[in-house]
Amino acid sequence: MKICVFGASGYVGASVYQLLKKPDGVDVSGTTLEDAPLFEELDILDINEPESFSDYFKRENPDVVIWLVQGGPEEHSLTTQGLMHVITFLRPETKLIYISTDLVFSGGKGPYKEEDPISSLPDDHALRHYTNAKVKAERYIENELTNYVILRAGPTYGENLIGKLDERTDKLAYHLRTGKEISYRDDLIRTFVHVEDFANVIVEMAQNDLTGVFHAGPDVQQSFYTFMQGMAEQQGFDGNFVQKAPEEEEPDTEVPKNTSLFTDKIKNKVNQTFR
Ligand SMILES: NC(=O)c1ccc[n+]([C@@H]2O[C@H](COP(=O)([O-])OP(=O)(O)OC[C@H]3O[C@@H](n4cnc5c(N)ncnc54)[C@H](OP(=O)(O)O)[C@@H]3O)[C@@H](O)[C@H]2O)c1
Repeated sequence: MKICVFGASGYVGASVYQLLKKPDGVDVSGTTLEDAPLFEELDILDINEPESFSDYFKRENPDVVIWLVQGGPEEHSLTTQGLMHVITFLRPETKLIYISTDLVFSGGKGPYKEEDPISSLPDDHALRHYTNAKVKAERYIENELTNYVILRAGPTYGENLIGKLDERTDKLAYHLRTGKEISYRDDLIRTFVHVEDFANVIVEMAQNDLTGVFHAGPDVQQSFYTFMQGMAEQQGFDGNFVQKAPEEEEPDTEVPKNTSLFTDKIKNKVNQTFR
């Protein structure tokens, strides 16, 4: 079995790539946009660039494609160009694992089940780039393909397999080490997922026969404030240095309040558990 990991140098992608690369693992190849010194064998590829994408894909001819690409403000072109290239080149028997986000539930009235409707944000909304690109991508995939998994997750945390922490925890630790307070919103509710559990379930999905939409993560739904206070204490800091952030916001910057996920479906289908 040949598996291609797009975004193998990223926070989640590096763990997925590392797991697949084990000596007893499958035949895997991975891509990065920039040179990634940790995995020098990765192919440097701009997924939006049709010719280099086409050369790479034809050469690798994968049985499974894992989408772990993320582009910040460029997320829209990753969907309208990069994902379109992938969809155009997929054979019917090639499985696409598309990693999506809880933010496709931009109405923020969770917890949400897999079958609940997803929605875009208005065109003038500050958070539209990522959310709307992910909504568009999910719709493309559901319309065009049958052999796919859309795996949605909330904020991912913890140390990945190459020792990199998520940016939020890194910032928390930096503040607390220097004796500074840091604040998080108590009205934003999420399903937080550990990067190791997330990477393991992605690898499991790449090698099983499941298709469809799944939510990854534990049963627990927490606010950023509660979750980060717990993270501070777990790392040996005084949780009192974690404060509640103000909740006032303008309509065009309003963050979806509760995008937490029901995760019963995946729990009954995969071996991986979520801490
Ligand atoms: N992190 C989270 O909390 C979270 C939560 C839910 C869902 N997700 C989803 O999980 C996936 C991975 O997220 P992440 O946090 O691991 O992302 P990340 O650390 O930002 O990594 C993004 C990856 O995409 C690559 N990339 C960016 N633009 C590209 C392009 N034009 N062509 C080819 N590759 C490109 C990057 O390459 P370089 O390293 O060379 O720049 C990197 O390998 C994303 O699809 C994201 O939406 C993440």
